[in-house]
Amino acid sequence: MRIRPTHPDDVTGISEMLTALADAGKRTRPSDPDFVRSTYVENDALVSSHVAEGESGRILGLQVVILAGPDDPFGVPEGYGSIGTHVAPDAGRRGIGSRLFEATEAVVRQSGLPAADASIADDNAEGLQYYEAMGFRTDREGAGRIVKRLSFA
Ligand SMILES: CC(C)(COP(=O)(O)OP(=O)(O)OC[C@H]1O[C@@H](n2cnc3c(N)ncnc32)[C@H](O)[C@@H]1OP(=O)(O)O)[C@@H](O)C(=O)NCCC(=O)NCCS
Repeated sequence: MRIRPTHPDDVTGISEMLTALADAGKRTRPSDPDFVRSTYVENDALVSSHVAEGESGRILGLQVVILAGPDDPFGVPEGYGSIGTHVAPDAGRRGIGSRLFEATEAVVRQSGLPAADASIADDNAEGLQYYEAMGFRTDREGAGRIVKRLSFA
């Protein structure tokens, strides 16, 4: 498995991985190729986008940081990062999320972003524990979500 920057050719593989997460009940946002391309691959607001690629070339994970604008859907302050992490349901707890974050953190620190927020459903125990393990701490809660923040300053 290797971690590398996301490439336009990854759209189908990312879409398949996100669809598997949705089928497993771990994702509610869209997973179709158009959404993947415009949100995670060819989005001008992307600060960082990395995939984890398995030996066979299958996409096993994706982590992005998107620069929040004035109307961020998760209430992230403008100019802060909004982080998202997705690991295939059959590849969890093997360190893929941790390795993705090593790559993301290096890019984000270089970018000068002040902080990143992670918005997590309040019943998503693995997501909450993952971000805690990466150093994020709870900043605010409400409407069924917990937002954890990591400052880079
Ligand atoms: C959350 C998620 C990204 C974690 O990815 P991962 O590759 O399994 O994470 P890692 O194996 O690198 O785990 C790193 C640490 O996170 C914590 N963690 C991860 N999965 C966990 C779980 N199921 N239960 C408890 N702690 C967990 C642990 O502290 C773990 O360290 P350890 O294994 O040494 O104890 C992955 O489970 C996922 O994609 N879930 C569905 C989507 C999601 O919830 N995304 C995040 C919130 S929006």
